[in-house]
Amino acid sequence: MSKFSPTIAARAIWQMRVRKRPFVLSHAVNSRCNMSCSFCEYWKEPGDEMSLDDIFRMLDDAHSFGIGAYNAWTVEPLLREDLPQILAYAKSKGMITSLITNGKLLKERINDLDDLDYLSVSVDGTKSYKEIRGIDFEIIMDAIMAVKDKLKNPLLMNCVISSKNLDDVEDLIQLARDIDVKISFEPLYEFRGIKEDVWGNMGIRDMEKYQCTIDRIIEMKKDGYPIINSLTYLKMIKELKKGYNCHVNNLILDVTADGSIENCRVHRESLGNVKDGIVNVWKASKDQQKELTEKCEGCFFFGYVENSLMYDLNLEVIQHYEWM
Ligand SMILES: C[S@@+](CC[C@H](N)C(=O)[O-])C[C@H]1O[C@@H](n2cnc3c(N)ncnc32)[C@H](O)[C@@H]1O
Repeated sequence: MSKFSPTIAARAIWQMRVRKRPFVLSHAVNSRCNMSCSFCEYWKEPGDEMSLDDIFRMLDDAHSFGIGAYNAWTVEPLLREDLPQILAYAKSKGMITSLITNGKLLKERINDLDDLDYLSVSVDGTKSYKEIRGIDFEIIMDAIMAVKDKLKNPLLMNCVISSKNLDDVEDLIQLARDIDVKISFEPLYEFRGIKEDVWGNMGIRDMEKYQCTIDRIIEMKKDGYPIINSLTYLKMIKELKKGYNCHVNNLILDVTADGSIENCRVHRESLGNVKDGIVNVWKASKDQQKELTEKCEGCFFFGYVENSLMYDLNLEVIQHYEWM
């Protein structure tokens, strides 16, 4: 969060550390995308989507369960026509709202985002952007420039670091400062379900170059550039070695487009369905959650890592924490 709110912090601490329940509902608000990024698996199997009434019921239930933040994070939230009603309903329940988008529809849908607190746009490069995302970089930047001053909080550009964009990272950080937005980074995750040639093309293989790039991000952060990742996280991803205990199940409730509750967005094991009641699924899947966490080798999705570090009261992360 960019502005510290003692009330929200108290609610989050009460929910996560005392009641030991997740505070954030991360929802696949739709199941289709208007891009087809090779490294992303979420758009590849479009399925059923919850109706607006189902989503309202889920939000009622989530509110009773103690959820305080609603994050529309896949597959491409701006494709969902009734998004403004969903955001308004979440706000009416006192939830913080956030959304991540590829930005393609941003200009035409900005007036539908009045109830959005935090907007994040994927910007995976400058010169390499078109090769990675399939459309011109200028189109996305034009959209960001058109909307950034209409938002409640600073816009966040999120960049997934791959072998394709290492040469662009410094320019992207400079750009974030020049246009007065924030920026975050996370390394590419090599999903097992995606073909090996994609990872051969995009995966981080030249460790020396990758580590020099992360060192530059660290330097620029220390110099005051608007990078929201903590230094703890950046040092961890430099080595690509898990240096945290995952608490994702105590932090984030992941719900798919058809209402399935999954343990996390990486392993994607179903724990049940929102139709069965969040608290019921939550209680009945305790052992399953524990087992999945114990056998997990870890990932570097920054939301999971930074929030887990914060859960373990890492002071540097708490100090740098700006985004949920
Ligand atoms: C799945 S997308 C959904 C939102 C929207 N369609 C977008 O492109 O931002 C959410 C985030 O996941 C990231 N993502 C997708 N595949 C990834 C991968 N293999 N490794 C790391 N991040 C990935 C995207 O870059 C984006 O920042």
